[in-house]
Amino acid sequence: MNLIASADRNWAIGLNNKLLIRIPEDMKFFQKTTTGKVVVMGRKTLESLPGGQPLKNRTNIVLTSNRGFQVKGAKAVHSMEELLEELGQYRSEDIYIIGGESVYRELLGLCDVAHITKLEYEYEADAWFPNLEKEKDWELTGSSEEQTYFDLEYYFLKYERKKKS
Ligand SMILES: NC(=O)c1ccc[n+]([C@@H]2O[C@H](COP(=O)([O-])OP(=O)(O)OC[C@H]3O[C@@H](n4cnc5c(N)ncnc54)[C@H](OP(=O)(O)O)[C@@H]3O)[C@@H](O)[C@H]2O)c1
Repeated sequence: MNLIASADRNWAIGLNNKLLIRIPEDMKFFQKTTTGKVVVMGRKTLESLPGGQPLKNRTNIVLTSNRGFQVKGAKAVHSMEELLEELGQYRSEDIYIIGGESVYRELLGLCDVAHITKLEYEYEADAWFPNLEKEKDWELTGSSEEQTYFDLEYYFLKYERKKKS
């Protein structure tokens, strides 16, 4: 399974249930990477999407403890067990964990690839991705050239779970 996130120098990912910044090229990367795939998100992240609506052309799965929760175009699951049962019908490489903090933390251990758009800035934040530089099982395996958006520098990074030797 994959994780996909944009994170700043401190691995911050959000403030007040919003992204720290919307970079058009990053949005395109996200869309290109996840289209046709399965996206897994927490209820708060769903609510942070435009119009609070599921993402088009993707299978949307939303974690919530609220059994009355219903959104057209998304499948609600109510526990990790229920999520993993639902995900069993898909190929692991087709599954993308798209946030937020709680869901990244709960599922990191089951994932083996992380696509991180790394923002070279320190934003005010209240949500963070696990610091993969401190995760001994993970290593940086790829980086784009430096990208810029106005005066912000950022990179498309790929981290992978270390292969057992
Ligand atoms: N930079 C990025 O790439 C990126 C991507 C996504 C999100 N974000 C940011 O992340 C922040 C949101 O993160 P968050 O941690 O506050 O919220 P979240 O993970 O999006 O959603 C949390 C909610 O998910 C549900 N949930 C999580 N685990 C569950 C489980 N095991 N069983 C049942 N329900 C479960 C619960 O919903 P109920 O309360 O309904 O029970 C919980 O309140 C926002 O700032 C958002 O913008 C950033």
